Amino acid sequence: MQRTLVLLKPDAVHRRLVGAILQRFEQKGLRLVGLKLVQASRALAEKHYAVHRGKPFFEDLLRFLTSGPTLAVCLEGREAVAVVRSLMGQTDGAKSPPGTIRGDFGLSVQNNLVHGSDSPENAAQEIEIWFKPDELLNYQIAGSEWVG
Ligand code: RTP
Ligand code: MG
Repeated sequence: MQRTLVLLKPDAVHRRLVGAILQRFEQKGLRLVGLKLVQASRALAEKHYAVHRGKPFFEDLLRFLTSGPTLAVCLEGREAVAVVRSLMGQTDGAKSPPGTIRGDFGLSVQNNLVHGSDSPENAAQEIEIWFKPDELLNYQIAGSEWVG
């Protein structure tokens, strides 16, 4: 079963959209493995977005991610990485279709509410950045034979 890392970024927390966004992942059939409200330090934000170091938006991105609480979420399910990315929509909220999280809740490129790992390899690395091993739970979820 595949795992992925989702972040509900500070704009999602400030706009009180945490419940609405988490509901979409749960309704799809993804299971919660880890859940943690974090005030990200600059070091943590830099580590998470290391791939974007040097890009013109990097400093703004760090400022944004450290500007308030972030909810770190580890989700598990069949094809979890791709499923989360498709539920999120495109980076730019204005270009994201209705029905996606970014398409329904935002207009911004930077303040786009949610992060999702873009490959299983990056998911494994990112989960390690945000969670300690004992913060990730293994459990049998009721009704899983109906969901996958
Ligand atoms: P994420 O990593 O957060 O899931 O988003 P993504 O894959 O859709 O987009 P990515 O290219 O990885 O960019 C990471 C985050 O940087 C901000 N960004 N700002 N001002 C800009 O041009 C710009 N481009 C990207 C967004 O917050 C984006 O999610
Ligand atoms: Mg990305």
